[in-house]
Parts: sequence; structure tokens; C-alpha cells
Amino acid sequence: MLNNPYKYLSQVYDVLYKELHQVTIKLLNDYFGSTTGNNKKLLDIGCGTGTFLLEMVKNGWTGTGIDSSPEMIRLAKIKTKKQRLLCNFFVRDMREIQLRDYFDLATCNFDAINYILLRKDMTKVFNNVYARLNENGHFIFDITTPYQGKKFSVKFNAKFDTFGVTISPSYNETTKIKTLDLILNFKGKAYKETHIQRRYEVAEISSLIEKSGFTIKEVWDVEDKKDKKVDAETTRAIFICQKR
Ligand SMILES: C[S@@+](CC[C@H](N)C(=O)[O-])C[C@H]1O[C@@H](n2cnc3c(N)ncnc32)[C@H](O)[C@@H]1O
Repeated sequence: MLNNPYKYLSQVYDVLYKELHQVTIKLLNDYFGSTTGNNKKLLDIGCGTGTFLLEMVKNGWTGTGIDSSPEMIRLAKIKTKKQRLLCNFFVRDMREIQLRDYFDLATCNFDAINYILLRKDMTKVFNNVYARLNENGHFIFDITTPYQGKKFSVKFNAKFDTFGVTISPSYNETTKIKTLDLILNFKGKAYKETHIQRRYEVAEISSLIEKSGFTIKEVWDVEDKKDKKVDAETTRAIFICQKR
């Protein structure tokens, strides 16, 4: 079954998370020395409204984006057309992927992977990505950790020009399940939506990704540290992995 909680959040996603994608682009630049694509193929998994992927397409990558939310994909396609770019978008569950193409780089940004709740499904995702990468291809993704689950459990309220949002988080330390109850107020109505994610330890993901055949090149703390060193207080970690 597709996990698709983005029916309403999709409508305000780009305003809510405006600055986000420059962080990933900077990190890619830190690792590769450049984000120039030279027509190499990029698969962005859980691509959302396509902001990151379209930036990469502008840098010369040939882009494909998949996401389980039809609304996010619809908005990504509109954005592509508006910017007069070329990019493929498909509604797909990352546990299945079902694409014929092979890629030089796969990305999965901003805790999209935390929507995978079961370890056996995570293994499926990693195996799928491995199978769709060219030899020496990279897979770059981030996760949020159990420490993040505990740390950010405070109700969040914000008002923007065209909408208001309330996010009520709760975290179960035993199951590592984070539940985010959202109320979105826009166009004079209130919309409710629940997002369920699982928090993963860096060690747990490291073990699963290596079992799928990847070599881990780097694991960086992307939120809290200047030196990028992962430790017990890391809230978000980015994995840079390579197919060998
Ligand atoms: C927090 S958003 C991140 C979107 C985008 N990567 C970004 O950086 O803006 C998480 C995305 O993951 C997608 N997603 C959740 N579960 C998925 C699944 N099983 N397969 C594919 N996409 C999924 C959601 O629909 C949503 O667009």
C-alpha cells in the first residue's frame, strides 16, 4: 500500500520548506567538488515537488523523479513546465521503483526514507536502488535519528501569508515511530493529515545498506555540526554510498 500523506501538505510544501534544498546541493558539492552533471543520470527518490531535482537538471543532470504522492508529482510537473526544463516524473513507491533505466546517482532527501517503517522494506529500497545504479554509481540519502525523535516533540505553530499550520508531534521511544498530526488552514478551511515516520540509528542503517552491497563513503551530520561528525546527538545524518 502506498504511504501517501501529502494530499494537503503538498499545497504548501514549497513555502514551508523553502530554504532546504541548498543544504543538500552544498553537501554534494563538498563531496564531488562540483554538482555539474554533464548529462549523467540522476534518480531522485521521494522527490516531492521536484525543487532539488530541477536545480540539478539546471546543472546538467538528466533527471528522473519518483514519489508515492500523486499531488507532489503533479506539482513537480507543473514546476518543470513553468521553468521550461525537461525532467521525468513518475508516481512510484520506493519499495518497488519499477523503472527500466539505470542511473549514475540516486538521491533521497529530507527524511523521505524515514517514511519506510519496516526494516524488511528498507532492505527492499536499498536493494532496488542498488539494482538501478550503474557500476560505481552513488546513492546519497539522509535519515533522521531517534535522538531527533525525542528532541523535536514540541507542538509547532506557524502563520504564513496564505495559510497556517499546526504540527503536533509524538514519539514512541520503543517503536521509534514518530507521528506528526498536521492541521493546515488554507482557503478558509481546515485540513487534517497524519504523517508516520520511523527514526533510525546511523548504525542500523549502516548495517542494512552494507548488506545490500553498498560501500559507505561518508556519513555526515548535516544539521548540528560544523565538522560534520556524527555522534549521539546527531539529529540528521547524510549517507554517501557507492555501488561496487
Ligand atoms: C519530506 S518530503 C521530501 C521531499 C523532497 N525529497 C524534498 O527534499 O523536498 C518526503 C517525500 O517522500 C515521499 N514518500 C513517502 N513515502 C514514500 C514511498 N514509499 N515511496 C516514494 N515516496 C515516498 C512523500 O510523498 C514526500 O514527497
